[in-house]
Amino acid sequence: MQVLPKGVRHIPGFLDRSRQEELVEAVRLVVAEAPLFVPEMPKTGKPMSVRMTNCGPLGWVTDRERGYRYQAEHPVTGKSWPAIPAALLDIWRAVSASDKEPEACLVNFYSADARMGLHQDRDERDLETAVVSISLGDTCLFRVGGKERGGRTVSFKLASGDVVVLGGEGRLAFHGVDRIYPNTSTLLKNGGRLNLTLRRVNP
Ligand code: SIN
Ligand code: FE2
Repeated sequence: MQVLPKGVRHIPGFLDRSRQEELVEAVRLVVAEAPLFVPEMPKTGKPMSVRMTNCGPLGWVTDRERGYRYQAEHPVTGKSWPAIPAALLDIWRAVSASDKEPEACLVNFYSADARMGLHQDRDERDLETAVVSISLGDTCLFRVGGKERGGRTVSFKLASGDVVVLGGEGRLAFHGVDRIYPNTSTLLKNGGRLNLTLRRVNP
């Protein structure tokens, strides 16, 4: 096992198959109400390769004009985001070490060729409370480093049911997804990977 940066915790197999299936069903209901949209990079408008939606009082969105932000409405439908499913709140309570509730759950869907560049999660006003991230479906290669861009990074695979917590000194760790390994899970009927990221936004 390689050493992960301080504050970065990887919990392989945190969710068994039946809890993973329960979450997929919950995400299906979220997506039915709040369809996946194509996020755009600020300024350039370049589309990101992941598709996104959210649940919770706030959702993370991005577009060319207004950039990265949290807002209470879906950018396409204009409706409030659906509530965070109870099964996700249970995971948050078990691993976040926070007595506050999460305010946002970002749902990222990766098709086989999607990826996510190295970045920090720093659009929240609360940069203390941990970020909790859940992987479902196909395995990915995850990369994580320290608080400085350009520092040493470590890479490891995230499989369906794994949970990652970025807390304490790891809260602002650079992280990203370098690749998806297609057909490595039978959880999602049409393949791909779902990542659910729970965050506190307001202190
Ligand atoms: C993210 O950083 O928003 C997603 C991380 C992941 O997909 O595991
Ligand atoms: Fe992130």
